[in-house]
Amino acid sequence: MKKTIVLLPGDGIGPEVTRAAKTVLEDTSREFGHSFELAEFPIGGAAIDAAGVPLPAATLDACRRADAVFLGAVGGPRWDARAIGKRPESGLLALRQELGLFVNLRPIHLLETLRDISPLKPERTAGINLEIVRELAGGIYFGARRTEREGGQERAHDTESYSTGEIERIAQFAFARAEARSRHVTSVDKANVLSTSALWRKTVTEMSGAYSGMRLDHMYVDNAAMQLVLAPSQFDVILTSNMFGDILSDAAAALVGSIGLVPSASFGTGTPLFEPIHGSAPQLAGKDCANPIGAILSVAMLLRDAFGLSIEAELVEAALGRVLARGYRTTDIAERDSRIVGTSFFTEVLREELQASVEHAERYGWGV
Ligand code: IPM
Ligand code: MG
Repeated sequence: MKKTIVLLPGDGIGPEVTRAAKTVLEDTSREFGHSFELAEFPIGGAAIDAAGVPLPAATLDACRRADAVFLGAVGGPRWDARAIGKRPESGLLALRQELGLFVNLRPIHLLETLRDISPLKPERTAGINLEIVRELAGGIYFGARRTEREGGQERAHDTESYSTGEIERIAQFAFARAEARSRHVTSVDKANVLSTSALWRKTVTEMSGAYSGMRLDHMYVDNAAMQLVLAPSQFDVILTSNMFGDILSDAAAALVGSIGLVPSASFGTGTPLFEPIHGSAPQLAGKDCANPIGAILSVAMLLRDAFGLSIEAELVEAALGRVLARGYRTTDIAERDSRIVGTSFFTEVLREELQASVEHAERYGWGV
C-alpha cells in the first residue's frame, strides 16, 4: 500500500514521541511491504520560531494532500505570553478546523499488564473499556471571543454555540460506534444550565430513535466526572461537546494509569489526524523520559482507521503488550519491580517485539 503521512512533531515532548511513532511507521512499512512516504513539518511553537505563525501555509498544504497526519504535541512556556489566537495551540485548532475534523475519538482501556497502576481500587477498574466521542470543530473553542475595558477592569467573552447540524453529525458517529460495541451511549451535557446543552440533549434524543436497540442515557457533566471516578465500567460510548470532552478525557486517562497512554483519532471531511491526548509536558522535554505509548497506539489507530490495515495495527498493539509484560516502563507508569527505561530504549524494545511478531506471523499465520 502506498501512502503519504505527514508528521507534525510540535513542541516539548512532541518531537520525542513523534520519533517513536515514526520508527513504528517505518518498520511497519518495511516489514509488510508497504510504501509509506513520511514528511515532517513544523506546527505550534516550533512553527512560530521557524516561520512566525503556528500553522504555516506549507504545513497545512502538506496535511491537506496527505493520507494521514500524526501530531506529537504543541505549546510551552516560551510562548505563553502570546495572545490567544497567536499561541502554539491555535495552530492545532486551526489545523483541526481547516481539515474539517469534527470527530475526536479517545479510547480508554485499562491495559491488562498495567492493572495495578490505576489510582482506583481493583474492583472499580474491572471492565474499563470506553470511548469518548468528543465534538472537535465547534463549541466554545471556536465561538466568538473578545476582551473589552469596562470601568477600571477588563471583561473577557468566549461563546459556546452549537447548531442542530453540528450536533447531529457527531451524534451519528457516536451511535454508529456504539452499534459496533454495547449499544449504549451516554450523552454528557449541562442541560440544566446551558441552552447549547438543551439543544444538544433534544437533538441527540430525537436521533436515537433511528437506532434500534440503542440505550441512550443523559448525564450532566459534573455528575459524569464523578461517575467516571466512582464507576467507570458503566460507560461504553460517551458523547460530548468539545470542551467537556477535553476535560473528561484527561480524567478518564488518569483512571487507566497515565495520560501518556491514551491515543486519539480525529475524522471529518479532510485528512484524518492522529495524536496522543497528552500535552507537550515542557518539564519532561529533552530528557528522553516521555511515555511513547499514547503516540504508538495513535499509530495503531492510524493504520487501522485511516488505511484499514488491521493486522498491522494488531501486531503493533500485541508487541506493545509484550514490551509491558517484560516489565519495561517509562517513569510515569513504573511499579516497584519495573525495568525503568527512557523513550528511545522503550521504542527499541518495541521494534524487537514487532519484528518477532512479524516473523512469528510469517511462520505460523497472521492471527495474533
Ligand atoms: C487536547 C489538547 C488541546 C485541546 C490543546 C492543546 C489545544 O488539550 O487535544 O486535548 O484542548 O483540544
Ligand atoms: Mg486536552
